[in-house]
Amino acid sequence: MLKPRDLIAALSPYHSPIVSREGLSLDLNESMAGCSPRVLARLRSLSVADVSLYPEREVGERLIANFLGVAPEQVLLTNGMDEALSLVFASYLNPGDELLFADPTFVMYPMLGKALGASVVRLPSGEDLALPVSDLLARISPRTRVIAIANPNNPTGLAAPHADLLRIAEAAPDAAVLIDEAYFEFCGETLIPDLARYPNLFVARTFSKAYGLAGLRLGVLTGSAEQIGYLRRFSLPFNVNGAVLACIEEALADQAFVSAHVAQVKRGRERLGQLFAELGLCFWPSQTNFVLVRIGAKAKAFVEAMQRRGILVRDSSSNPGCEGCVRITVGTPTQMDGVLLAIREAVTEVVGS
Ligand SMILES: Cc1ncc(COP(=O)(O)O)c(C=O)c1O
Repeated sequence: MLKPRDLIAALSPYHSPIVSREGLSLDLNESMAGCSPRVLARLRSLSVADVSLYPEREVGERLIANFLGVAPEQVLLTNGMDEALSLVFASYLNPGDELLFADPTFVMYPMLGKALGASVVRLPSGEDLALPVSDLLARISPRTRVIAIANPNNPTGLAAPHADLLRIAEAAPDAAVLIDEAYFEFCGETLIPDLARYPNLFVARTFSKAYGLAGLRLGVLTGSAEQIGYLRRFSLPFNVNGAVLACIEEALADQAFVSAHVAQVKRGRERLGQLFAELGLCFWPSQTNFVLVRIGAKAKAFVEAMQRRGILVRDSSSNPGCEGCVRITVGTPTQMDGVLLAIREAVTEVVGS
């Protein structure tokens, strides 16, 4: 009988985080502002060649390298950032090697590590859910081959100090240190200028969040030219589709769209914070397009009460350290008027006023 590799058979089935698409989806940290109209116009004008020929990602890599201020050899485009993570993990982790990260964080890290047979080393964060820098530094060993850090982090929204991230990169010269900057635009802190000094450092970005292109799947991996060269050997040559490649120029050119969206999100997350403070709920000051709030034992009931009001939010209780916590994506200003009202009602309904 045909059997998959033991590692694959041992994996738990993947459950899509998409609960439903009915209502306002504030559970996946997508852009509620959509995408740039210039990108949509470019999509509408796709040529036969854009669709029928195999895509060439090199032109897009040059555009993005120029935008990021690095050399084209330092950029690899991927099918969303998820593929960038997968490539880095698969390129440096032999079975039994250590993948190191702190909890809570992005759920894909343990999933990918397990699929590769890596030894997954998860360090708990303290009560404040901040990156446990000293613990990470203390746990680095010769077996550590990949350290993954989402900065700012998902689901907390917190960013770690730049100097601490560099200390980690410095302390693990034989490990790939991957800084996942999926939410960079909402925070503004980046390690890209540090790539020149740390050949073991990688920075990943995505067009799924601030650019609103989650459906088109475009991720960016940057690192030293030498290491990106190795990853390029292993990456599938036509991994990025022609439609999104055709849109890169317009997406980058419309920085006015990105800045306006980011400004709206910053205002929206402030409004959420003010409401949580008023309701006496513990929340984490976010540098992203979502806010994590501790509802407590009634978190599940709260999520259901929000769903009854047509708003999907994410119960993060299964993420270590986040028991009773709910993650809420920031919507547009008009959506937020209704969302704030719904939160107030749902909290009163399930927790009591
Ligand atoms: C921290 C983090 N990294 C990576 C991703 C994946 O992004 P992409 O849509 O580019 O695969 C996400 C998506 O939610 C994320 O939160």
